[in-house]
Amino acid sequence: MSPPEILPDTADGHARAAAILRQGGLVALPTETVYGLAADATGDAAVAGIYAAKGRPGHNPLIVHVPDLAAAETLAGFPDPARALAEAFWPGPLTLVLPLKPGHGLSPRVTAGLPTVALRVPAHAAMQAVLRAAGRPLAAPSANPSGKITATTPAHVLAGLGPRIAAVLDAGPCAVGVESTILAPAPSGTRLLRDGGLSREVIEPITGPLIADTTPGAKLEAPGQMTSHYAPHAPLYLGGQPQPGEIIIGYGAVQGDLTLSPKGDLAEAARNLFSCLHTADALAAARNAPAIRVAEIPETGLGRALNDRLRRAAAPRD
Ligand code: TXA
Ligand code: MG
Repeated sequence: MSPPEILPDTADGHARAAAILRQGGLVALPTETVYGLAADATGDAAVAGIYAAKGRPGHNPLIVHVPDLAAAETLAGFPDPARALAEAFWPGPLTLVLPLKPGHGLSPRVTAGLPTVALRVPAHAAMQAVLRAAGRPLAAPSANPSGKITATTPAHVLAGLGPRIAAVLDAGPCAVGVESTILAPAPSGTRLLRDGGLSREVIEPITGPLIADTTPGAKLEAPGQMTSHYAPHAPLYLGGQPQPGEIIIGYGAVQGDLTLSPKGDLAEAARNLFSCLHTADALAAARNAPAIRVAEIPETGLGRALNDRLRRAAAPRD
């Protein structure tokens, strides 16, 4: 297998990405949250290619990306308060799990046979351009091997997936840095399936109190819930007393070998989270360190998504 094409963030690069996708190929694309491993969501073989490249279990469904609400409405129904959420936060870091419409045309592999589909309208200009040029919905999970650290730069994508993909569109690092928030809206109450780039505090004025359904391992409804996930090679600990030789990831007043945000800013910490984990893991290997330890992060706003990812990265592995 040859190395992936590195495509520039230009009209030519977008057109080339769209052409590969229309032929059923796999292209890693930037979004405002993280890099996604995209394929034509209507093509069975293309979607099967995503699962194979990531080593992802076939029962874990994929997010489908569309350019706008009108395109989303051709695929799924919008029970209250779904439309209000879409109007408030799309394009942006929000994924809605919605009932599939008859004649949706998506590959059944995308939804792992579920009667629902996870839809997102991403805000990144390059992703928007490729969606429009491809002229079809794009399935895109995060562009990392299943269970490993999420990719927020083209270098992360290449290190993790390398020759298994046809191309990566290089638009530099992602602005948000953690994956989208996943909601299942319903008139009786909206369930929160994954904390992410859109914080609960801005959602609840529209939905009322969210029903948190994010317990690791409880059930595999959003299998991003599988307990061990985002895992570096070295063991990872949260808070507590540093031990000799550990690689320390700091936050705010806690300085470390690396820091998520020296000034204790949660948005900056989210942007740096996965890069810090990738770097800390490489440092741990180079120094033969016993573990990585991360400073405590407040459990508010984006801090919830950060702590969720870190708890899963720290979870016992199979
Ligand atoms: O920010 C993001 O959401 C990124 C970018 C690329 O858009 N994508 C992403 O995809 O994080 P992925 O595959 O790593 O996570 C998708 C999550 C999984 O936890 C999956 O189980 C859940 O969405 N999911 C997908 N379809 C679902 C469905 N029909 N019902 C419940 N959960 C679903
Ligand atoms: Mg992922």
